[in-house]
Amino acid sequence: MIKQAIIPLAGLGTRLLPLTSVFAKELLPINGKPGIEYILDECIEAGVNEIIFIISKKKEMIKKYFHNDKFYKSLIKNKKDPRIIKEYKKILKYKKKIKFVYQNTPLGTGDAVLRTKKFIKNDYFLMLLPDDLIMKKNCSKDMIKLHKKYKVSIMASMRVNKKNVNRWGIYSLSKKLDKDNFIISDVIEKPSTNEAPSNNAVIGRYILNKKIFKFLKKQKKGKGGEIHITDSIKAMIENKFIFIGHKFLGKYLDCGSMNGYIKSTLEISKL
Ligand code: G1P
Repeated sequence: MIKQAIIPLAGLGTRLLPLTSVFAKELLPINGKPGIEYILDECIEAGVNEIIFIISKKKEMIKKYFHNDKFYKSLIKNKKDPRIIKEYKKILKYKKKIKFVYQNTPLGTGDAVLRTKKFIKNDYFLMLLPDDLIMKKNCSKDMIKLHKKYKVSIMASMRVNKKNVNRWGIYSLSKKLDKDNFIISDVIEKPSTNEAPSNNAVIGRYILNKKIFKFLKKQKKGKGGEIHITDSIKAMIENKFIFIGHKFLGKYLDCGSMNGYIKSTLEISKL
């Protein structure tokens, strides 16, 4: 049963400067709604009932945003605006489900995941990366369904342009399970075009076995001096853990780069 999700939110957001110089990128509006709310809606709709946010001191405005129910309540007292009442209820719903843990030094996604170790209750949990929005089809829900069938780890996958493989984790595929799912035989973080075994990229939805924490504890720094989740996944695959790559069906929006962020508002407004 996948009932918990984790969301790393301590990143500096340098790809979105200057917007992120004083503001958390996950709160930036995408078509009138903070990006993080799309991610929350996806995992709540997929049946998750506890979401662990990994933030940092610098990103405390995220905590403030979800703990601002008293402010809404005081506004509603004087003015019964239905829109504000709706927002108030939404914030309360989110607040009840979110827990916060801290990663004050940005040491990478792998290190962020390790911070959640003592909170994870079941054998498997979901991770969503907030830069990656997937619209129209609930990718987390589809992956949870797949997990129920195979009881192994799963990562979302999408074909990318060969020229851009160095922006992603890239898979080697072995067996095809069906037209949308395959067994992963290796994964490499941000390879050069020559090193890349394919153009199948890791997109930010993961169902992970909690044994990953053992691997993360031993994980050495990789590309760019960061501890990458991809490197621990690679080590798990080498140790015979099974990972499925899932070609998701929804519309992908890359909100972690300036071009992608600008486009995502336009795309969502068309949906
Ligand atoms: C992270 C992962 C990478 C993955 C990507 C998906 O990279 O390390 O393997 O392909 O998310 O968005 P980041 O966006 O943190 O550079």
